Amino acid sequence: MGENKLKITVIGAGYVGLVTGVCLADLGNEVLCVKKSIDKLDELNKGMSPIYEPGLSEMLQKNLEEGRINFSNKMDEGVSFSDIIFVCVGTPESKVGKADLAQVEEVARQIAEEMDSYKLIIEKSTVPVNTHKLIKRTIKRYARNNLEFDIASNPEFLREGFAIHDFMNPDRIIVGVESKRAEELFKEIYKPFTENGNVLIIREIAAAEIIKYASNSFLATKISYINMLADLCERANIDINMVAEGIGADKRIGRDFLNAGIGYGGSCLPKDVKAFINIAETYGVNFGLLKEIEKININRRRRFLEKVEDILWITKNKKIAVWGLSFKPDTDDIRETPSLDIVKGLRDDGANLKLYDPEAMENFKKLIPENSQIEYLNDKYDTLIDADALLIITEWKEFKRADLNKVKEMMKLPIIVDGRNIFEPALMKDQGFEYYSIGRNIVS
Ligand code: UGA
Repeated sequence: MGENKLKITVIGAGYVGLVTGVCLADLGNEVLCVKKSIDKLDELNKGMSPIYEPGLSEMLQKNLEEGRINFSNKMDEGVSFSDIIFVCVGTPESKVGKADLAQVEEVARQIAEEMDSYKLIIEKSTVPVNTHKLIKRTIKRYARNNLEFDIASNPEFLREGFAIHDFMNPDRIIVGVESKRAEELFKEIYKPFTENGNVLIIREIAAAEIIKYASNSFLATKISYINMLADLCERANIDINMVAEGIGADKRIGRDFLNAGIGYGGSCLPKDVKAFINIAETYGVNFGLLKEIEKININRRRRFLEKVEDILWITKNKKIAVWGLSFKPDTDDIRETPSLDIVKGLRDDGANLKLYDPEAMENFKKLIPENSQIEYLNDKYDTLIDADALLIITEWKEFKRADLNKVKEMMKLPIIVDGRNIFEPALMKDQGFEYYSIGRNIVS
């Protein structure tokens, strides 16, 4: 794909910025990634990715070696490097649940001050509807000259753990523009994909901005919907997976994101649902449906804790093994992870917890340090020694492949409470486990 050589600046080398920069470089472009703080710059220039994402370090190293990607902490270098600037800075949740756009505004000011030719400024960060108007106003206000520029929106749809795959194999590429010039530039940037038959969907900027929130909120809706059904199935003795398959076989609905469990976490779905409710409110629209989606999601954690309590009767002083801390497999990300509330809840009830996660333990330790009740172990089987129960919080592949005989042998009681439905209840019964999962018959 080396023929697609453009010069591209990416501002921000966090999760989105780094994946975007590295993938654009791998497509043959020359990329300069600007990162404000210099602490991680050396590591990045040596090809060390500060985040865990399968394949990212390797791709970063390859493109560094081949000279297609560089990192800088100088905004002026970034702005003069290219006419195409992807803005990938963070838009964290503010105290009132809105997206905090301070970094976006700062970048807009800096671009305005450094602009030396036409620029296409692309919002990649998730921003509320009509943020492009504020960016435009800011650039006009702070610009030192009257140069032409375009603002555009190009939301990302990367799943953590599959970010490179998702970037390189997009279902759709959403682009919001307001000029032909910007549209043509996007056609050039994404040529390697459109040539392979992938769809470039070009819309007004505000529509592109809203598509991002609407997509993530819809995914959250599917998850809370199936979790609501799971509660009914559990009481009515029906297997939620059978129901999910039945529903999902309708192409209009689809089976994806109908996995019942302890709910969604991460840095995107929870934040975006909240922000979308807020955005609607600022336009005088009540997104009651999404408020309920959010409520169902948060209640999953409490319900899981209640389930553990029902099963163990008293959790105080019980030895409980916890497998999985990250908000989903293949990531070390613990933002908004359900495990935080679950571990805290059990700890506060006096349980003794032995925790294991293949990637997320270091991050988790920073929030919940080791103490007399909390121990982190580097081998998942070691958590089971003398355990009264094993809780499964994240569906890592290595848990699905665990040696169940060994698991049973090591535990004091063969009780598993599975928050992600990774095993078949009937098989677990045959193996001699007391196995509880979500929305499926309780087999004991
Ligand atoms: C999500 C979207 O899937 C991406 O398209 C989007 O680009 C990204 O947010 C973003 O806005 O940057 P991500 O947060 O990485 O990606 O993770 P997901 O795979 O969407 O999973 C989110 C949460 O939902 C996880 O906690 C997962 O365990 C949970 N989930 C997912 C379920 O509980 N059930 C399911 O059926 C699917």
